[in-house]
Amino acid sequence: MDKIPYETILDIRKKANIVDIIAKYIPLEKRGKNYFAICPFHDDHNPSMSVSEEKQIYTCFVCGASGNVFNFVMKYENVSFVSAVKKVASFVGINLDVQDVKEKKEDNTKYDKYYKMFDVVNKYYKNNIKSVYGKNAIKYLHERKINDDIINEFEIGLSLNDNSVSKLLQEKGYDKDELIDIGICGNTNNYMYDTFRNRIMFPLCNLDGQVVGFSGRIYNGEKESKYVNSKESVIFKKGHLLYNYHRAINEAREKRQIIVVEGFMDVIRLFSVGIKNVVASMGTAITKEHASLIKKLSQNVVLSFDGDKAGEKATISAIKEFEKIGITPKIIRLEDDLDPDDYIIKKGKDAYLNHLKNTLSVIDFNLKISEDKTNFNDFNEVSSFVKDAVTELEKINDKVIYELTLNKIAKQTGLSKETIDEMVEKKPASNAYIIDKRKPQKKNKYQKAEEYLLHYMLRSKDAILLYQDKVSYLPNKKLSIIAMEILEFYEKKGYINVSDFTLFLEDKTDLISEVLRIDDLDLPDNVSRDVLIDYIKTIDEEILNNEINKVKDKIKTETNVQNKIELLEKLRVLKKRECK
Ligand code: CTP
Ligand code: MN
Repeated sequence: MDKIPYETILDIRKKANIVDIIAKYIPLEKRGKNYFAICPFHDDHNPSMSVSEEKQIYTCFVCGASGNVFNFVMKYENVSFVSAVKKVASFVGINLDVQDVKEKKEDNTKYDKYYKMFDVVNKYYKNNIKSVYGKNAIKYLHERKINDDIINEFEIGLSLNDNSVSKLLQEKGYDKDELIDIGICGNTNNYMYDTFRNRIMFPLCNLDGQVVGFSGRIYNGEKESKYVNSKESVIFKKGHLLYNYHRAINEAREKRQIIVVEGFMDVIRLFSVGIKNVVASMGTAITKEHASLIKKLSQNVVLSFDGDKAGEKATISAIKEFEKIGITPKIIRLEDDLDPDDYIIKKGKDAYLNHLKNTLSVIDFNLKISEDKTNFNDFNEVSSFVKDAVTELEKINDKVIYELTLNKIAKQTGLSKETIDEMVEKKPASNAYIIDKRKPQKKNKYQKAEEYLLHYMLRSKDAILLYQDKVSYLPNKKLSIIAMEILEFYEKKGYINVSDFTLFLEDKTDLISEVLRIDDLDLPDNVSRDVLIDYIKTIDEEILNNEINKVKDKIKTETNVQNKIELLEKLRVLKKRECK
């Protein structure tokens, strides 16, 4: 992927007012000089995010999220820095022709022929179901409460009990081998036949909504396999796509939630009752690729697999995939072994919505599993249930949730809270996640000197030049990296200001947040050279102290006499420097 030049990024930033851009995503409210919003990056109830028009940055004073307009779009849409820049550029009418767009175009033309073939077949199947041959298929779908609007929306079709697709495509001049390669046809002894025969056809689309495969379902009560899928090909990998992805993108982003189900019919049922932020894994286990695709839609993932044992197993393994990429999904478990489709048919939409409102946490879900397998009259089983429960309690880092869960387990088992509590080794210290991350902590004079010097480096060239001249590094690693970035920025651009500097840092959002925190320190606007020199002296002192301590530590553990003498000599030299 090409790098976008800094000047271009700066240009886009100048045209794209952060207030206008963020307002496209979330409602903003003006209060005084700044704008405020409910922070979309944590579970916020009061507006804790402020957007500064003057500085062109946003900051959440609860969860600490902060950055420039591109960082906001990156985080909100879960996309790369380059994609975020492109997106913002398109908002202000700038068309960025960067490499990854071109690459995609090439790919498109390479596979264009395949897409075209699938498109032709899809149209043919859709036509069939509306013809006289489709009467029984339509009847079957209507019986399953799938109406004509839904049939159209999901482009459901019908394959005929003949080889008409093979014929059609060959007549259109498509190559036999290619038809076989992408699984539309098969052949034995040079005889071409259709892969799908007499099945209700569901087109499977890639992330852009192009048809890349099919799944066909029996509908006449035959005893064959219920669904048959296209074989994998260069454009179709089952583990890399999700059913309904392209239709769910906007819905999921708007609702800030994505529901994951197992089957086609589950997606279609949820969609037909107005729940459109849903994708299906199509019966396979959630792969790493699935999980990261889903994460792009929303970080708020709800797993709603079938209510049976297989669905429970699939849920357990999906949780693992999501946890690997930092997502803790929420879970729906439906009663009576039902899948979401059957559940809504039998119990109604509201019953399902009720589940959606009261999703289980991973901890609740795990507890429920061990609860279900426990006979609470059997002491041995209770004992192993308590062990499972303790494992779950150790994962909780919120004091209130810990207490509530502890109470519940005590009640279930008839044990005292104290007994269970004693078994738990790792407990939540306090209500950790409510603590304001940005609340200033007590700092010693060394930390202050480093941060204050950096604060002035973000606004004054004199501070930068002093640093360049007199400081080798900062003991705090992150601050030291920022200082180096400032030197580089200044060298290349010949000036410094915070908002432009954050553009230069691109996708290093971690550093950007730290830069904005340092920038926000409440210090006088102007500073004398003497004060800056004082900071530098303090920093030197800190570096020297650190070195002395390191040598002292080494002396303690050194067993070789000669080495020890050398270290002692080194210590003497360092101490002499300290006295100066
Ligand atoms: N599946 C598949 N091939 C099969 C069986 C299932 O690809 N032979 C996929 C389909 O995507 C299906 C999903 O796995 O939707 C879940 O399978 P299952 O629960 O058996 O089917 P349902 O979704 O309940 O399908 P239906 O309601 O049509 O019976
Ligand atoms: Mn079903």
